[in-house]
Amino acid sequence: MWGIYRALVFALVAASSFTPVRVLEFCQSTDPDCHSHDTASDVQPSPEAVKSRWSRNVSNVIHDLDEFKVSCKKLMEAFPLDEVDGNFVRTVKNCLFSKSFPTPLKGPLRLAAVSKDVIEGILDLDMALTQSDDFLQYVSGGKLLPGSEPLAHRYGGHQFGYWAGQLGDGRAHFLGQYSNRKGEIWELQLKGSGKTPYSRSGDGRAVIRSSVREFLCSEAMHFLGVPTSRAASLIVSEEPVVRDQFYNGNMKTERGAVVLRLAKSWFRIGSLEILAQSGEIDLLRTLLNFIIGEHFSHISSSDPDKYLVFYSTVVNETAHLIAQWMSVGFAHGVCNTDNFSLLSITIDYGPFGFMEPYDPNFVPNTSDDEGRYSVGAQAQVGMFNLEKLLAALSPVLTVKQQKQAKIILKGYADLYHMRIHQIFKAKLGLLGEDEDDSDLIAFLLKMMEDTRADFTMTFRQLSEVSAEQLHDMNFTQMWALDDLSTHEHFSDWLNMYLLRLSRQQNDTDLDRQQRMTNVNPRYVLRNWMAEAAIRKAEMNDFSEVELLHHILSSPFVTQETAEEAGYAARPPLWAKRLKVSCSS
Ligand SMILES: *[C@@H]1O[C@H](CO)[C@@H](O)[C@H](O)[C@H]1NC(C)=O
Ligand SMILES: *[C@@H]1O[C@H](CO)[C@@H](O)[C@H](O)[C@H]1NC(C)=O
Ligand SMILES: *[C@@H]1O[C@H](CO)[C@@H](O)[C@H](O)[C@H]1NC(C)=O
Ligand SMILES: *[C@@H]1O[C@H](CO)[C@@H](O)[C@H](O)[C@H]1NC(C)=O
Ligand SMILES: *[C@@H]1O[C@H](CO)[C@@H](O)[C@H](O)[C@H]1NC(C)=O
Ligand SMILES: *[C@@H]1O[C@H](CO)[C@@H](O)[C@H](O)[C@H]1NC(C)=O
Repeated sequence: MWGIYRALVFALVAASSFTPVRVLEFCQSTDPDCHSHDTASDVQPSPEAVKSRWSRNVSNVIHDLDEFKVSCKKLMEAFPLDEVDGNFVRTVKNCLFSKSFPTPLKGPLRLAAVSKDVIEGILDLDMALTQSDDFLQYVSGGKLLPGSEPLAHRYGGHQFGYWAGQLGDGRAHFLGQYSNRKGEIWELQLKGSGKTPYSRSGDGRAVIRSSVREFLCSEAMHFLGVPTSRAASLIVSEEPVVRDQFYNGNMKTERGAVVLRLAKSWFRIGSLEILAQSGEIDLLRTLLNFIIGEHFSHISSSDPDKYLVFYSTVVNETAHLIAQWMSVGFAHGVCNTDNFSLLSITIDYGPFGFMEPYDPNFVPNTSDDEGRYSVGAQAQVGMFNLEKLLAALSPVLTVKQQKQAKIILKGYADLYHMRIHQIFKAKLGLLGEDEDDSDLIAFLLKMMEDTRADFTMTFRQLSEVSAEQLHDMNFTQMWALDDLSTHEHFSDWLNMYLLRLSRQQNDTDLDRQQRMTNVNPRYVLRNWMAEAAIRKAEMNDFSEVELLHHILSSPFVTQETAEEAGYAARPPLWAKRLKVSCSS
């Protein structure tokens, strides 16, 4: 029996063409790197801490919106601007940004959601300000923040495998950079704020549905410990926006919404690609030097290999990012090069989804018939995107550096596999390294696939169950483990796992449970949960958006309201019939 599974390598969670990774002694418990990236969940907050996070009184915040200043100087001084003005669609050359003013949304406007963590923790603002009319105007494009000179970014990209030419911010406006009290610099962007020179055939708007999804998911990902852009606020309007929700010709009138989102940088692989493709090599160099200077402080500007080191950093960080997506079953949905950040954070939340039954072929975008962006294909797609990044860098690399860069890219698969191995070992509470660990993990995933066991809850329930209950296979109220245990080989796997755990010296069952509950979330933004919140939001009832936002801010802590709402229970039957609404 065991032989069948031995053949199953990590390819189950990775891309099938990758070579299986050797089991390396790379993660000893003394190695700080083993835990450095292990999410915000390293220290699990108590229920009291969760409550106080929401009622904490922050001193030293800004109490007057007129004192909140942003600046566009750095970007405007670093790069030439589009010489043409106005929001009409055009081909733009020799610049990275066009001046573009947001188009105010038609009122009345409503504040549908706001992130206290971002408002206070990043923007230094008093939460009370979010209730003011000025705030609504500032974060929906009706008024410009002091210091703001709004810009739309020109970029290109490979979409679904092919070069798509000029793309650019078609419905987003960069408002400015904010330097906060912690000394961090954040770039503020409105999404859904109207036409820009890059709108192509679009209307520059975003609807409530897609905006609720972006707001909730980017915040949820942050609290899961996955690098991501953040969302500060969600404003909904009465402005009619017509969308073909499933690309099937059924037009529907929805309402416009705007999200204020933040990232340390919004530059993408496509930002470099467009410059390389149109032969704007000086500008390509300028942009690279800027990004390295601002965001890659470990790279010296005088290093002749700086672009190579930059590439190597992005390759590594992208491998780590995608491994983290896999650790929570996140499928981005549109991994085009223009949706891939140069800082390797998750950006551009569109038709994403969290995998429910474990299935490497899970595709969140129902129109993606070929499954190009299935959850299990993401590692491979990451490699494709990094190949395109290398092509964009080639004009500024020597021939020798180009060869070295290819070798770096070859190392991507190993980096990815090592990280995945580390993550799944942690998800199973394993310490140290045993030569059978890869098999133990692959065997479990294979059983999950066969039984369609829920990805999130299988790992969560393995974290919560005691070794004794496991031994007795007492899965009362553990619905995911109950499903898994129907597998004909379940007891073989269980014996291996229990034996492996029993060999861990200096470990107790309680310690194991605690380690595991710190890395295996109990709540993720399942599609049906988002959908229920969206339906209410479309009727101006934002209570469920708020509830989800609150709960997903502590995804590793069991919460009464979440349990009452059934967020950790077997998904309701209607959830099976849902399709992801793609258009945004
Ligand atoms: C919280 O801050 C507000 C000002 O934002 C202040 O009026 C209030 O007294 C503070 N409350 C506590 C408990 O410190
Ligand atoms: C790769 O990236 C991860 C995550 O940011 C980091 O912890 C690690 O040190 C990096 N490794 C190398 C070799 O740069
Ligand atoms: C991702 O990129 C595609 C173009 O490749 C773009 O149409 C889409 O809007 C982007 N997704 C999101 C959610 O912004
Ligand atoms: C979903 O996939 C289809 C088919 O590949 C593609 O045309 C569409 O743009 C995708 N949806 C989004 C939002 O990217
Ligand atoms: C199963 O485990 C639960 C605790 O979760 C316990 O209350 C119950 O008595 C156990 N059942 C059996 C048959 O051991
Ligand atoms: C267990 O703990 C003891 C004492 O702290 C230590 O000497 C020993 O190396 C530990 N063993 C393992 C396998 O970590």
